[in-house]
Amino acid sequence: MRPGSGTGSETQVAKKTVRDVDVRGRRVLVRVDFNVPLDQGRVADDTRIRAALPTIRYLVERGARVILVSHLGRPKGKVEDRYRLDPVARRLGELLGREVVKTDDCVGPEVEAAVARLRDGDVLLLENVRFHPEEEKNDEGFARKLASLADIYVNDAFGAAHRAHASTVGVAEFLPAVAGFLMEKELAMLGRLLADPEPPFVAVLGGAKISDKIGVIENLLGRVQALLVGGGMANTFLRARGLALGKSLVEVDKVDLARELLARAQERGVELLLPEDAVAAPAEAPATDRREVPVTEVPEEWMILDIGPATADRFAVAVKTARTVFWNGPMGVFEMAGFERGTEAVARAVADSGALSVVGGGDTVAAVERAGVADRITHLSTGGGASLEFLEGRDLPGVAVLQEG
Ligand code: 3PG
Repeated sequence: MRPGSGTGSETQVAKKTVRDVDVRGRRVLVRVDFNVPLDQGRVADDTRIRAALPTIRYLVERGARVILVSHLGRPKGKVEDRYRLDPVARRLGELLGREVVKTDDCVGPEVEAAVARLRDGDVLLLENVRFHPEEEKNDEGFARKLASLADIYVNDAFGAAHRAHASTVGVAEFLPAVAGFLMEKELAMLGRLLADPEPPFVAVLGGAKISDKIGVIENLLGRVQALLVGGGMANTFLRARGLALGKSLVEVDKVDLARELLARAQERGVELLLPEDAVAAPAEAPATDRREVPVTEVPEEWMILDIGPATADRFAVAVKTARTVFWNGPMGVFEMAGFERGTEAVARAVADSGALSVVGGGDTVAAVERAGVADRITHLSTGGGASLEFLEGRDLPGVAVLQEG
């Protein structure tokens, strides 16, 4: 099949995994996505660290010498203390119940010495790889230096697999490259959404901007029976239907595109549901007042900050009939008191649906956890941008370079 044609199955070529390589006594460079939120020197949400534990534990138990490499934030090629990985090393050590040595760089003599000291089953975490500008440029010399630390490369950083960087792509040129368990699980779960999903397949998309989701909408329109749109991006669709919406966020330059997508959904017989009511607040001082209004009656100086109760009910009914659900993007500014109900209602409906459910994106996963329903979702993806690019039907560069199984 043609790669990247968006039909899904071609992004599903089976990859070799850590199971397929002999790791005992070998130095294994593992790319992880430890891009986690920090708060006052502590890890505020360790979901991504926990998600990498199965691969790390497996390697430790089999006597590999584990060298972890990750980015954190976007330091743009410079050393920035607030993006150091020390809090991550501490948290990982707690979770593993063993010492995690951390270096202050990711290449160079200090790192080489630390790697030389590793014994079988030891775990080393390298400093933020984005402190070097060569990382994001996928510089060959830098990739070679990283690769020279190890005998085998494992990519378990699904969340960064859409980036063609030295630590996600370049190193694979110089080492046998296989997938970790998290990578394997993410590809399998997201792959099920593209390859033959059980109908009805309902996708719920939210978040601020339609521009981040165009590719996904286009690719999913050929697969879903219903597409539910909430959050700021719904406003651009509502504007395309001619609504004023007061001071609500609208991507004016995307209104024509929204109109086109509405027409395409209709042609394909996909039910595209938009909010009919909303929770709105004064644009200048949203915390001072709030009102539930039909989307046709948003006051001029007000803005939409959540879907309204009628919309939440309608979305919940649609989600509960689904056999397959994908959800990315909150329905409103759920982190602000008074504007969380729409997002919570969708979270509960996805959990109650009993469908194969996949939720992606940091905010959306956080919302699911806040609603207390995380254990009733089939798969919480650790990828935000990566899960969207996967569902666009694009090949992820960090996956493409892994050996085929
Ligand atoms: C993410 O948080 O989506 C990944 O860690 C990728 O981060 P990036 O968008 O800074 O490349």
